Amino acid sequence: MALIRNEEWINSIIQGDAKIVLQSLPASSINCIVTSPPYYLQRDYETSTQFGNEKSPVEYVQNLRAVFAEAYRVLKEKGTLWLNLGDKYLDGNLLGMPWQVAFALKEDGWILRSDIIWYKPNAMPASVKNRPTTDHEYIFFFTKSNDYYYDIDAIREPHVTFTSKSRMKGGRNHFGKVNGTPEDGKNASNQNLHNGRWDQAFHPKGRNRRTVWEIPLSKFRDTHFAVFPEKLVELCILAGCPENGVVLDPFVGSGTTAVIAQRLGRKYLGIDINPKYCEMASKRLFQPILF
Ligand SMILES: C[S@@+](CC[C@H](N)C(=O)[O-])C[C@H]1O[C@@H](n2cnc3c(N)ncnc32)[C@H](O)[C@@H]1O
Repeated sequence: MALIRNEEWINSIIQGDAKIVLQSLPASSINCIVTSPPYYLQRDYETSTQFGNEKSPVEYVQNLRAVFAEAYRVLKEKGTLWLNLGDKYLDGNLLGMPWQVAFALKEDGWILRSDIIWYKPNAMPASVKNRPTTDHEYIFFFTKSNDYYYDIDAIREPHVTFTSKSRMKGGRNHFGKVNGTPEDGKNASNQNLHNGRWDQAFHPKGRNRRTVWEIPLSKFRDTHFAVFPEKLVELCILAGCPENGVVLDPFVGSGTTAVIAQRLGRKYLGIDINPKYCEMASKRLFQPILF
C-alpha cells in the first residue's frame, strides 16, 4: 500500500483495518499510542474482520501482535504505548488474556514499564458467588527504548502520608526542599529512603502517581460499547505525549482518545474498522462551538 502523506492523516479519523492502515503510515511519526482493542470474546463490533472473536486465545494474541508490530514501526524512538485490556472467564477459568498479550509484546521488543490497575468503583455488578467480583482492568505502559518521554509532574497525585497529625516531627518544614526528611534511627543514612519519602510526602507538586488508578466508568451513552473514561486517557496523554505531539488510537471507537488529544493541545489519528463508529468519533471531534 502507498504511504499516506503527513498532511493527509494528521488530525483525522480513518476507517479501515488497524494493521492495514498502520502499514500505510510513515515510520517514527507517532509520539504516543493510547488504545483499547476489542477484548477476547467480549462484544460483536458488527464487522467481519474485527478482532476479539477469534477461535482461540492464541489466534487473538497473534492478531494483536501483528497490529502492534506495525504500531512499533510508526512510533517514535522516545514514544509511549498505553494499552488497556480486560480479562475473560471461560467455564469459570480466568484466561489471563491481558498478560498473554503483554508477554507476547515483550517478546516482540516492547519494554513493559508498568502494569497499571484501572480500578472501577462503579464496575458492573456480577452474580458470581464463588469468587470475588472483578472491578479492574489493566493498562500496560510500554516503550520502545530506555530513553522515552515521560512527564512525571503532569500526573502527580495528592500526598496522603503527611498530615498535621503526622509523627514525622517538623514535616512541614520539608515542603519544597530536596532531601533532609526527618528520618532518624536505623534509617538515618538511607539516601534512597530520604528521596523516596520526600517525593512521597513533601514534593510541592504532589507525590509520584501510583499504579492503581481509581476512575469511574464513562457516562458517554451514544454507543453500545464501553468507551474510555476521559480521565484515563488524559493521564496517559499528559504523561506520555509532549504538547503538539501526535496521539494514535488504532481502535478509536467513539473517538475518546482523539477528543482528549485535541483538548490537550496534541494532534491525533484515530482508526476504526466500523464506519458507524468513525462517524460517531468525527461528530464528537467537530462539535460546533455554541455562543
Ligand atoms: C473497545 S472498542 C474501543 C472504544 C474506545 N476506546 C472508545 O473510547 O470509544 C474497540 C474498537 O475496535 C474496533 N475494531 C475491531 N476490530 C478492528 C480492526 N481489525 N481494526 C480497527 N478497528 C477494529 C471496533 O469497531 C471498536 O470500535
